[in-house]
Amino acid sequence: MHAERGLSAPHGTTLVDLVVGRARARELVQQAAAWPHRVLTERQRCDLELLASGAFSPLTGFMGQDDHTRVCREMRLSDGTLWPMPITLDVDDQTLRNAEASGHLALRDQQGRLLAVLEPRGAWRVDPVFEAEAVFGTSDTAHPSVNHLLHRTHRWYVTGRLEVLPRAVEVAGREGHDLRFTPASLRRHFDELGVRRVVAFNTRNPMHRAHQELTLRAARETGAHLLVQPVVGPTKPGDIDVETRVACYRRLMPSYPFGGVTLALLPLAMRMGGPREALWHAIIRQNFGVTHMIVGRDHAGPGLDSRGRPFYHPYAAQELVRQHQHELEVSMVAFPQLGYVESTDSYEPVDQVPPGTLVRSISGTEVRERLARGESLPEWFTPPAVAEVLRRRFPPLPLAAG
Ligand code: ADX
Repeated sequence: MHAERGLSAPHGTTLVDLVVGRARARELVQQAAAWPHRVLTERQRCDLELLASGAFSPLTGFMGQDDHTRVCREMRLSDGTLWPMPITLDVDDQTLRNAEASGHLALRDQQGRLLAVLEPRGAWRVDPVFEAEAVFGTSDTAHPSVNHLLHRTHRWYVTGRLEVLPRAVEVAGREGHDLRFTPASLRRHFDELGVRRVVAFNTRNPMHRAHQELTLRAARETGAHLLVQPVVGPTKPGDIDVETRVACYRRLMPSYPFGGVTLALLPLAMRMGGPREALWHAIIRQNFGVTHMIVGRDHAGPGLDSRGRPFYHPYAAQELVRQHQHELEVSMVAFPQLGYVESTDSYEPVDQVPPGTLVRSISGTEVRERLARGESLPEWFTPPAVAEVLRRRFPPLPLAAG
């Protein structure tokens, strides 16, 4: 493990807040009945929520062309602030024409409820191949975000002033609502606990032993409070569903030292952008008042390309965060790949075990196959509390069993 201290704080601590008051919200709901609308995808809804709550500070809305181009090319907003990921709103021809004619675009959820209103102030043609290559380093559609850009993104990006309704950030009725925090409420929570050092752990998996080891070691070695902050927006296609994962996280929490851990769900739509995504996660975490963040092997990795090779080097994410550490308030806690060593019954860095030592691990695909066959997950791989949740949620498939 290696912790690196940031030197400066380019983002400051001012959190953006785009949420309007109740009276204005009522006014917007009435007026918006006459305005053109766009139903947001789950990814756009997550982006909107994190923009509104300040988790994407210093962004104050979906990006304009200058910011977008510079973010793609240089990982910077047009004022030079470090920001590695495009946050854009795409619309089709008709929607753009209607929005420009009306001066307003109502952004609605899948049920048709108004979430926000955009006053368009500029639009430009999406260039999916340019963006894919600049941001993800490839135009191979085996990359989920490249696929999204090339096949599921409308023709225009639109920017403008954004007013967001309170319901876009409210958590009542959502999965794990008691575990949801805004940047401001999580900072308050840390203040109330009296903790000044917080180490965050990002995950899109049910937590296995390797994840547990990373978090325990990071907390111990930094002397920080642990923030387990799993992503509950869209992640990599094929990942285990949010409801099951949340049940796993809840079951695992009592295994941590009492009072030493906070579980908070993050409604982020991951891009599986490897290095750029790791940097993005660090900036988001600093908005949540975090001081350290774990980056292990292949952080936010999209898997293999269409020729069977990894898109990113397993340590490229650590390398990029390290390069920009001096611009971040969050210090990276970097880990090499940990694997299970049977002879010592412990998790060790796989590149440091003596030659010939048996190091074990189980892939995500194998986890799903084992569950489908009704086989148990070994205790060295999955904590029993988590294994039990997974077994219950994924009963054996009739054909796979026996
Ligand atoms: S991720 O998309 O959030 O990165 P995952 O939930 O698997 O995926 O990983 C969460 C964090 O743990 C990431 O920082 C990842 O690099 C790290 N990680 C997962 N497994 C290992 C491992 N065996 N060794 C080292 N780091 C790991």
